[in-house]
Formats: sequence, C-alpha cells, structure tokens
Amino acid sequence: MMKTHTRLASFSALTLAALLGVGMPLWAADGDQALLDKAKQLFKPLPESAALENTALTPTRVALGKALFFETRVSADGRLGCVTCHSPSYFGADTLALSVGVQGKVLPRNASTVFNTPLLVAQHFGGNRATVEEQAVKALLSPLAYGNTSYEQVEKKLVQLGYQPWFDKAYPGEAKSLSADNWGKAIGAFERTLLTPAPFDQFLKGDTQAMSRQAKLGLEQFMAVGCAGCHSGVAVGGQMYQKFGVTQDYWLATGSTPKEAFKGYDKGRFHDTKNEADAFIFKVPQLRNVAVTPPYFHDGSVATLPQAVRIMAQLQLGKTLSNEEVTHIVAFLESLTGNIPADFAQAPVLPVAPH
Ligand code: HEC
Ligand code: HEC
Repeated sequence: MMKTHTRLASFSALTLAALLGVGMPLWAADGDQALLDKAKQLFKPLPESAALENTALTPTRVALGKALFFETRVSADGRLGCVTCHSPSYFGADTLALSVGVQGKVLPRNASTVFNTPLLVAQHFGGNRATVEEQAVKALLSPLAYGNTSYEQVEKKLVQLGYQPWFDKAYPGEAKSLSADNWGKAIGAFERTLLTPAPFDQFLKGDTQAMSRQAKLGLEQFMAVGCAGCHSGVAVGGQMYQKFGVTQDYWLATGSTPKEAFKGYDKGRFHDTKNEADAFIFKVPQLRNVAVTPPYFHDGSVATLPQAVRIMAQLQLGKTLSNEEVTHIVAFLESLTGNIPADFAQAPVLPVAPH
C-alpha cells in the first residue's frame, strides 16, 4: 500500500517537473555528480597546511622567511631576491620567458610559480632539489641566481644587515641560529604557507556549482583526452617525470632555441643525472594558477595558454584538439586560479642595517 503510494507520488512529481521544464537541473546535477566522482579518483583538494611533519610553522619563522624572500641585499650585486622572479604581482612568477639573474645574466629557464610547490614530488624541471628548503639554500650560491661564493659570506651579510635578532627569535636555543641552513628552513616555512585554494577545490569538496559549465566540460575533456594521465594529484601535475615531446622533438612545436648552459636543446633531467635515459625527461609541472602565469614551458617558448594546450595534445598524446575542446580545457585550467595568500601580497618591512 505504502510502496504504491510512494512510487505514484515520485512519478507524478517527475512528470510535473518535466512538463514545467524544471527537470533539466536535475539531470545536469546527476552528470555533475558522476563528473565529481571521476575527478575525485584523479585529483585531491589542497590540504589545510603543507607543513613538514613535526615542524611547526611558527609565526616568527614564517615572518623571517617572508623577510628573507623579499630581501635583495644578499645577492652578489645587492639587487635581487626570490621576490624578483617570484613576485606577488605575477602569481609567484615573473612573466619573462627566461628569468634575469644576478648582474643581468639570463637564466636558461622560465620561472615556475612558487605557490603550492611544497606539494610537488621535487623542485625544478629536472627535480634536482628535493625540497623547497634545499632549493632556497642552493639558490644562494647559484652563479646565475644569487651569485655568492660561500655560505660564510652570506651569513656575514645577514649579520651586517641586522638579521641576528630575527634568527635568534625564530630559532631560539640553537648554538648558531643565523645560518644558511636556517635561511633555507625559514624561507621553506614561508613557502609552506603559500597555498592557493581555487574553485576546483570547492568542486572537489562537493560544491558542483563552484565551476562554470564550460569549466566542467573542460575537466571532462581533460580526463577523456588523457591530460590527467600526467597532470594529476593535488597540484594537477608535479607528481612524476615524463618525456617532453613523445610524438616528435619538442622544439619543432614550441620553437625553442638551444641554450648555452645546456650546450644545445634543454634535455631536462639528463643535465642533473647525466643518464641518457633521462634525456628530455622533465618534471610534469603543476597546473594550478597556469592561466595566470604565462609564458609556458620550461623556456617560456609559448606565449598563450590555448597554444600550450594544443601543443601538449599534439606532442604528448598525438591528438589534434578542436577549437571547442581547447576553449573548454582552458576554462577548466582557469578554475585552477587561486587566491593569492593575503600575507604574501603585503610587502614586509626589512631590517635597517645597524650603524
Ligand atoms: C633570477 C630569478 C630567480 C630567483 C632570484 C629565484 N628564482 Fe626560483 N626559480 C627561477 C627559475 C628560472 C626557476 C625554474 C628553474 C628550473 O626548473 O630549473 C625557479 C624555480 C623555483 C622553484 C621550483 C618550483 C617548481 O615548480 O619546481 C622554487 C620552489 C623556487 N624557485 C623558489 C625560489 C626561492 C625561495 C628563491 C629565493 C631564495 C628563488 N626561487 C629565487 C628563478 C628564480
Ligand atoms: C605524457 C605526459 C603528459 C601529458 C599526457 C600531458 N602533459 Fe602537459 N606537460 C607535461 C610535461 C612533461 C610538461 C613540461 C614540459 C616542459 O616545459 O618542459 C607539461 C607542460 C604543460 C603545460 C605548461 C605548464 C607551464 O606552466 O608552463 C600545460 C599548460 C600543460 N602541460 C597542459 C596539458 C594538457 C591540457 C594536456 C592534455 C591535452 C597535457 N598537458 C598532457 C606532460 C604531459
């Protein structure tokens, strides 16, 4: 008796909805749920924190790391800091095809954004830095970046600039609180706060209306075409190494030029491991904030996102995308644009060297 009644009631409700044309959102919502279920198998929303296990992101460490990130007086010419190539104005990158380092020297690669990078498998296109902390320490002696000759020289500069009390406060009780090692740890602590939650995260957490219809079509295609085979996980990339140029040499599509630093075309991981099997293998970059960090690829050789998407399909999957597919995928990639952490957008006041 009850059963018949319920079935009858739901049948008439459905018929009525269809007649009134309000059935559409119902079906669309079903599709959204299926899309969400599929996406959840491949991607993850950003975590609350990217802190290292057992290492608290204390406010004094984060504040010191932020100061050092914006500090330009430690470089060999006193003119460049992390912020020069990883600016809040440009979503943690610099807009140049190739970054300009100390004394105007041109780097062989495009600056990646500094947002969300603690979540990646390793740092740099070649993965030659295991952590953001190691990356920050080694940048100090890179002849193209900071151009210092020794860590002692860096530590002396930091003392002269008035940083001793900052390090003492951030690393209390350590015999030598002001050290290159703690420079790395403090900058790393700051970077671990630079997560950029985006509409895609709200979607993954169940709010299927957080993304536009176009972006959802794009997500569907991103998975169907095969992009997610490489660009997956919490950062939509950054989890593995893959060959750049599966179907043909990448420079034929990107127009890349040989680089002096690599004595030819950039061979990615090969330059770090010297293993022929690593030739042209690059870390798959994260795609968070990709829509707002042009130009594209390891050498900034491609100016626009639709072009980068087309080239990816062609070079990595041997597919030619239609204009519509490109538009949708770009809309999906736009849903990965996050909010810049408020703390990063505000420049810090740095110490004045004691007289
Ligand atoms: C002169 C410009 C320049 C300066 C200064 C600079 N970077 Fe970079 N950064 C780059 C470039 C170019 C890359 C890409 C290098 C590569 O992949 O080989 C990069 C890559 C990175 C990455 C790796 C991101 C990823 O997705 O793999 C991190 C993290 C980073 N930089 C942080 C920093 C920090 C912290 C500082 C300051 C201590 C700094 N950078 C100083 C230009 C710069
Ligand atoms: C076989 C693995 C693989 C597949 C499949 C793949 N990619 Fe990539 N993707 C990479 C690698 C590796 C790079 C880095 C290339 C470089 O710059 O050296 C990259 C770079 C990119 C970039 C440039 C990111 C930046 O910040 O410069 C975009 C955008 C991109 N991929 C989108 C896509 C899209 C869209 C698809 C599907 C049509 C796709 N990828 C399929 C491996 C892959």
